[in-house]
Amino acid sequence: MKAAFIFSIQVYLLTIVHCVGNQFDPYVKFLGAQNYMKTYVSQDFTLDDLIVHRGSHHGLKEADRISRLEGQPNAPKINQYSGYITVEPHNGRALFYYFVESTRGSSSKPLVLWLNGGPGCSSVGGGLMMELGPFRVNKDGKTLSNNIYAWNKVANILFLESPAGVGFSYSNKTSDYKTSGDKRTAIDSYTFLINWLERFPEYKTRDFYLTGESYAGHYIPQLAELILKSNKNTNHTIINLKGIMIGNAYIDDETQNKGTHDFFWSRSIVSDEVHEGIVKNCDFSWNATLSEVCKNYIKQEDGFVGNIYPYDIYAPLCLNGTSSEKSGFDPCSEEYIESYLNLPEVQKSLHANLTHLPGRWQDCNYDVFNNWKDQPFTVLPNIQRLMASGIRVWLYSGDTDGAVAVTTTMYAIKKLNTTIKTPWHPWYLKQEIGGYVVGYENLTFVTVRGAGHFVPSYQPARAIALFSYFLRGKLPGSK
Ligand SMILES: *[C@@H]1O[C@H](CO)[C@@H](O)[C@H](O)[C@H]1NC(C)=O
Ligand SMILES: *[C@@H]1O[C@H](CO)[C@@H](O)[C@H](O)[C@H]1NC(C)=O
Ligand SMILES: *[C@@H]1O[C@H](CO)[C@@H](O)[C@H](O)[C@H]1NC(C)=O
Ligand SMILES: *[C@@H]1O[C@H](CO)[C@@H](O)[C@H](O)[C@H]1NC(C)=O
Ligand SMILES: *[C@@H]1O[C@H](CO)[C@@H](O)[C@H](O)[C@H]1NC(C)=O
Ligand SMILES: *[C@@H]1O[C@H](CO)[C@@H](O)[C@H](O)[C@H]1NC(C)=O
Ligand SMILES: *[C@@H]1O[C@H](CO)[C@@H](O)[C@H](O)[C@H]1NC(C)=O
Repeated sequence: MKAAFIFSIQVYLLTIVHCVGNQFDPYVKFLGAQNYMKTYVSQDFTLDDLIVHRGSHHGLKEADRISRLEGQPNAPKINQYSGYITVEPHNGRALFYYFVESTRGSSSKPLVLWLNGGPGCSSVGGGLMMELGPFRVNKDGKTLSNNIYAWNKVANILFLESPAGVGFSYSNKTSDYKTSGDKRTAIDSYTFLINWLERFPEYKTRDFYLTGESYAGHYIPQLAELILKSNKNTNHTIINLKGIMIGNAYIDDETQNKGTHDFFWSRSIVSDEVHEGIVKNCDFSWNATLSEVCKNYIKQEDGFVGNIYPYDIYAPLCLNGTSSEKSGFDPCSEEYIESYLNLPEVQKSLHANLTHLPGRWQDCNYDVFNNWKDQPFTVLPNIQRLMASGIRVWLYSGDTDGAVAVTTTMYAIKKLNTTIKTPWHPWYLKQEIGGYVVGYENLTFVTVRGAGHFVPSYQPARAIALFSYFLRGKLPGSK
């Protein structure tokens, strides 16, 4: 499996993690910033950006209903749908979604969108099949079992493969894959939502939340602002956005870099000497260039970090398709998922790949990732505006993730200049500490103890507890 979610350990150098012969080699590929239009803050949305394609959706909801997903257990019965929504008819860009209704009282439960990151990675392969969806793929790569901690126990969950080129989402003009970026991703996702609500009109006025992880730290704040702008512009709540929650969120390049180095040092992976060398010689701020001395220390750090799985630094590796893990999360899960999603009968039951897409379904699209066109250095100003807008804003971190480490988020929050309302304290699930929580003015930060980057995969009980508290707007562990 080529699990590829970016993390940048060097300023202006993005590192793609990929799996070589089933061994994770996190430092395999460096990309120069010249590929990018890196701006300090995100580009503004104009009123023209709100004029989007609207298709006809009559009868399409029923066509999208999944009677039975290939390999799924006989019970329980769930209402699930999947299919395509055209977001741009000229080039022919269509985004693929999977939607599952809550198993209990779905009509009174909110609607929640989940987005994985990358940029260029799939929410069907990640969020749905590996993290929080109703099923997990078995070792045979053909059958499914129930995930008892599925988030659709408490909400109606929509998974979107975004942008075009990711997973089953496509463009008939494949050069679109080389021109993706933050701005178009936000506009296409917004267009998707407007059209999806036409297909599922009973959800039009429902409370709506945006959730996701990693590079969705860029997607979510920008999409949220676009939604609020459109509501404001029409004096009408088109999408009833109530809050956002982002896990191990990639939100600010400076704190991302500083926090990553401090994390690996604090976890006793990097020597004092090398860490001090980085602290003294590296300037990660906007527009700074890294000195040769700094780069040399970072190279030494890479040597210490070695072949650790960066998304969960204490986890076993998936070696040669098998793992030494006897309990808990299977590190080879991504391989089972890739096998499963490439079965023709699975694609048929999902209404996916109707246009004979070339190649295999892959978790991440390197073409999309390598050619990303625009990305701001920081989305903290977007987050500040969302905090002041009155919607609920939560950040959480699995505390054993090295890709977007807990320290990176803690440093980023400092830059937000908000004030503490409820000081840092442990939150409990049953008798155990689930993690720690701190309530700020207009922002909540929660850690999940013993979880890597993909929090619901490693700590499913803590993850659904956290999600339920978020929906209720209560600090984890409170009544
Ligand atoms: C892409 O092209 C195929 C084949 O012509 C067509 O069936 C499909 O509707 C097109 N997709 C979009 C989104 O226009
Ligand atoms: C929204 O309200 C403002 C202020 O009342 C008004 O100027 C504007 O024309 C309204 N816009 C729409 C689309 O109704
Ligand atoms: C950062 O770099 C950009 C482009 O090189 C330049 O336009 C801008 O003035 C610089 N900003 C600062 C604060 O130095
Ligand atoms: C990997 O697995 C294959 C097939 O199971 C086996 O033939 C090969 O020897 C294994 N390689 C290593 C390095 O263990
Ligand atoms: C789509 O289906 C075709 C067979 O029609 C298959 O060859 C191809 O691998 C599939 N594409 C993806 C992305 O799964
Ligand atoms: C919190 O939100 C209120 C209004 O909703 C705003 O006045 C205040 O500035 C915000 N504070 C922060 C730190 O975001
Ligand atoms: C936070 O406060 C400092 C000091 O007052 C200020 O320089 C900085 O611009 C503020 N940051 C943000 C993101 O508001």
